[in-house]
Amino acid sequence: MKKEEKLVRFGVAMPSDLLEEFDQTIENSGFANRSLALRHLVRQYVSEKSWEHDKGNVCGAITMLYDHHSNDVTAELTHIQHDFGGEIICTTHVHITHELCLETLSVRGSVEQLKKLEETLATLKGIQSVNIAIFKLI
Ligand code: NI
Repeated sequence: MKKEEKLVRFGVAMPSDLLEEFDQTIENSGFANRSLALRHLVRQYVSEKSWEHDKGNVCGAITMLYDHHSNDVTAELTHIQHDFGGEIICTTHVHITHELCLETLSVRGSVEQLKKLEETLATLKGIQSVNIAIFKLI
């Protein structure tokens, strides 16, 4: 059985219009109250940011949007993915429009290697957008 977590109350100040937007957003998302929504957001933020300073293994997904006509982006991407064959578990490629491709790499491995992979992809010419979501393996 999971040990009961001790809850701590604290005050937060924010602009009233931002709070209204937050309340509307959490209501639409189905959260019962602000505390539950904030806990969810804080856990997500901590998880998103903490992996970069870790030393162990992590897993996650790297999502990219690119124009497959741009330069040699398709060939370069294949080349990079072969270089990181030990980290990439699977690749999903979806043709979004005639030009645009959405590609998602499911990854696992060391923080060091996945940071290297992200940097390599983010600086590749022709890639419009790169998003990385990493989860710690606890
Ligand atoms: Ni495509």
